[in-house]
Amino acid sequence: MARDGAAYVCQACGSVQTKWSGQCPGCGAWNTLAEEVQSRPPGALAPARGARGRGLAFEGLQDATPAPPRIITGVDEFDRVCGGGVVPGSAILLGGDPGVGKSTLLLQVAAAAAGRGAACAYISGEEAVEQVRARAQRMGLAQAPVKLAAETALREILEGLKRDRFDLVIIDSIQTLWSDAHEAAPGSVTQVRAAAGELVRLAKKRGVAVILVGHVTKEGAIAGPRVIEHMVDAVLAFEGERGYPFRILRGAKNRFGATDEIGVFEMGDAGLAEVKNPSALFLNTAGERAAGAAVFAGIEGSRPVLVEFQALVAPSAYGTPRRAVVGWDSGRLAMLLAVLEARCGLGFGDRDVYLNVAGGLRITEPAADLAAAAALVSSALDQALPQDCVVFGEISLSGEVRSVSRMDSRLKEAAKLGFRRALGPADLEGGGGMAVSGAGRLAEAVRRIGEAQWD
Ligand code: TYD
Ligand code: MG
Repeated sequence: MARDGAAYVCQACGSVQTKWSGQCPGCGAWNTLAEEVQSRPPGALAPARGARGRGLAFEGLQDATPAPPRIITGVDEFDRVCGGGVVPGSAILLGGDPGVGKSTLLLQVAAAAAGRGAACAYISGEEAVEQVRARAQRMGLAQAPVKLAAETALREILEGLKRDRFDLVIIDSIQTLWSDAHEAAPGSVTQVRAAAGELVRLAKKRGVAVILVGHVTKEGAIAGPRVIEHMVDAVLAFEGERGYPFRILRGAKNRFGATDEIGVFEMGDAGLAEVKNPSALFLNTAGERAAGAAVFAGIEGSRPVLVEFQALVAPSAYGTPRRAVVGWDSGRLAMLLAVLEARCGLGFGDRDVYLNVAGGLRITEPAADLAAAAALVSSALDQALPQDCVVFGEISLSGEVRSVSRMDSRLKEAAKLGFRRALGPADLEGGGGMAVSGAGRLAEAVRRIGEAQWD
């Protein structure tokens, strides 16, 4: 790397090059190298040759001072995804597409936490204080004792946070911040890294919890927040399908809790409402369930969630039949179709296959295999599943239906929502008002669906 001179930083992957080139040697992206001056903080001298450190003071695992209690913000869905509240002195990155509702969520979190006695600051680099205030008013949060500021200069923010004592600070967004120790433009990898580094340091030193907003950017746009994921303690993703009001908060990394937890919200006129019972939301309860629909009893984090898989299998008008999936992995669908063909004699070679997870949820659990298969088979054979039936089970390449975790919780949630039957692995046990149809092999499940034989 050039010392104190120009370096070329890839805005996509963050790798540093000494020479400019059209394509980044690090990640292969085109036109992403931008010149950035690598500089030391003003006043810092180059380290003298042979300079030595002071050494480390080691400590034991025991005898640590007890950790301060977590900040419970009062937005339960948020607290749960954080692992039971926000840890003082931790840094959280909240990423998401522009417009998904990050500012809305964090304003609500700040207002709720402030209402419970935490000292909260909301610093916006994107909106004027008036705009934030107007939004708070619209959301009915005007009375919350949150301290607002609009600022993009990192130096001012750091100074402000040193002067006042806060428990929770929200920075919206990290891409708007600008440090005068670096010449690169705001939003560039250098600036985003420098700003995040300073803020994380401040968080640790003063025991303030800092939440950084990061826009996930489309290709070719300014640096994504990925480059600071390693610096923060937790990375949360806020997701939502266009056209659906549902928003899902997901933990992608968490040093203080599980990462498979989700929080569910619904965007409305007065901001985000917490959805305490997601099953009722993702399940299309109105009307009959037609052929091609199967209700999956899934587990998202610590909670069981029921969601409908919808499939459409239709004769193809093209040489190459179409496969389209929303909310599930397309590789997994290809595998499932192959297993159905090889182990159950159901061919899809001349048919289009569409698979959709209702409600805009994205399912990653392997336990959903059997539900997806049931929906596909139900559509292919034009035979609806029983209205009161839930499905779960993992499918292996050999066509075996495998047992999955927490089958009891899945059945309990299904029973709570009025389901009376479950199609699942052979070792599935009924009870609590639930009848079970176990299937050791996928072919057996296919036969049950085709012949509507459930006992
Ligand atoms: P915002 O929080 O500004 O998104 P981000 O910070 O992730 O860019 O939310 C923007 C969208 O949310 C906008 O399209 C309008 C919508 N919205 C509502 O539907 N209701 C509301 O009460 C608020 C505040 C926003
Ligand atoms: Mg915003």
